[in-house]
Amino acid sequence: MSEAVRTMMRMDAEAAQESAAQADAGFLWDFWYPAVRSSEIRGHNLITAMLLELPLVLGRTSEGKAFAMRDSCPHRGIPLSYGRLDGKVVECCYHGWRFDACSGQCVEIPSLSSQDKLKVERIFAGHYPCEERDGYVWVYMNSPGTKLPETIPAVPALTVFSDKYKMTHLSCDLPSHVDQGIIGLMDPAHGPFVHQSWFWRKRGSIHEKAKQFEPIPNGFRMSPHSPSTNSAPYQLLKKITGEPVTTTIDFVLPNLRTEIDQSGKMWFSSRATVTPVRRDLCRIDFVAAWSLFFLPVSIFRMFGKVFLRQDQETMIQQAEGLKHNPRLMLIDDADRPAKWYFALKANLLESRRTGVPMVHPMDGPVTLRWRS
Ligand code: FES
Ligand SMILES: [Fe+2]
Repeated sequence: MSEAVRTMMRMDAEAAQESAAQADAGFLWDFWYPAVRSSEIRGHNLITAMLLELPLVLGRTSEGKAFAMRDSCPHRGIPLSYGRLDGKVVECCYHGWRFDACSGQCVEIPSLSSQDKLKVERIFAGHYPCEERDGYVWVYMNSPGTKLPETIPAVPALTVFSDKYKMTHLSCDLPSHVDQGIIGLMDPAHGPFVHQSWFWRKRGSIHEKAKQFEPIPNGFRMSPHSPSTNSAPYQLLKKITGEPVTTTIDFVLPNLRTEIDQSGKMWFSSRATVTPVRRDLCRIDFVAAWSLFFLPVSIFRMFGKVFLRQDQETMIQQAEGLKHNPRLMLIDDADRPAKWYFALKANLLESRRTGVPMVHPMDGPVTLRWRS
């Protein structure tokens, strides 16, 4: 066996170990995830991000197309982000190998002599489908060691209901596994304790609620309903339009929670995604759009930041406890959405493993009751 073949085999073994480690991390591969905000990629800068424990380098070609490559030179592994982008090609800083930014294909190895037979075009840097939508650069994370499918699904888009609207983005890091971030996001019972404030609700306003849920593909929906009477913003909206407010909240794998509020012609649409960065770190990206002329972006951001900060502080405290691997419990009905999330995830993985269509954990519509 030649030295070169032995080296390649060692590399394959390392790749296999790496993908096994990543499978253990409880990530859902083969989905789009937001990597960075579009505004972060300027000029010919190369910027770094991490998704599902994979280091990425992102940039934009002279033609304006965003790209995402694995931040590792296939030659000797130095991060490509230390290199430079000339608008089309990323050049490694170590031996100057050059890669087409959009395909990852090697286009030049400067050290090759006229005698060399190496087929440069057969070498690829790790490379991921990349698209911009709603102000984010989304990256399609196909599982390590697998080929991209022929067709990949469309990037999730925020629903809007008119041409004119305001839009804003907020984000915050949570020091926990993505599962904890997600079940925190759709947990109805923490509101009166974590989000107590004069503009949202008071702890004393806690009361019994019944909400209907229904299955949707890869997720579940809190069926259209009138939002709770103890949340000030909804009451204000109703006063202004003089019409009832309806809210629809969806959760869809791998990590999307969307909420649409409508009252007469006015609408508010938001999406929160919880993206795994590492197994002990995730990030909430929150984007909202609305047609409500009386709600300036600055005011919304002020309240939105307080809200996210409250969740973040709670999850920092929770992470302190989770370090010691305590036993946890999920109760009915308040934690039922969390149970559905874990079941959806497990059933999706099972269906991918067996090739049999995914079983949805809900049989049909169900009413959940809790106090909040
Ligand atoms: S390590 Fe990148 S060219 Fe050698
Ligand atoms: Fe919260």
